[in-house]
Amino acid sequence: KKLIIINGPNLNLLGKREPEVYGHQTFTEYLDLLRAKFPAATLEYYQSNIEGELIDKIQEVGFTYDGIILNAAAYTHTSVGIGDAVKAIQTPVVEVHISNTFSREEFRHQSYISPNAKGVILGFGLQSYDLAIESFISF
Ligand code: DQA
Repeated sequence: KKLIIINGPNLNLLGKREPEVYGHQTFTEYLDLLRAKFPAATLEYYQSNIEGELIDKIQEVGFTYDGIILNAAAYTHTSVGIGDAVKAIQTPVVEVHISNTFSREEFRHQSYISPNAKGVILGFGLQSYDLAIESFISF
């Protein structure tokens, strides 16, 4: 299976950023573990802090890949454009969040991704990504 993890703004700072919320591990360290755990999958990784670049990437992979694991970070709660991109493509998208966005501020309860996602996994720390990959491989 050809899968891609797409991470949005500030997720390049994982490990350094609010570790009490997002943990101490960097994403690249975690990615190595994921690739070792799922040798049958091709696991690509893309991160951008720029809304339009995230839309470009979703469009680029969205008609050929088997799955997209998308953490649009803050854009989840603001971006009609990313929501529309998820709706426009054919590849199924699993929305993930590291934190439980429903136990946080009210503005994090809204998602423009969820209505067009195959499913949503949140609140399990970095393991949320693991579970999302599992969902593409097991079902
Ligand atoms: C996040 C939750 C968002 O509300 C926040 O803006 C992020 C990260 C998460 O993975 O928990 O940057 O998507």
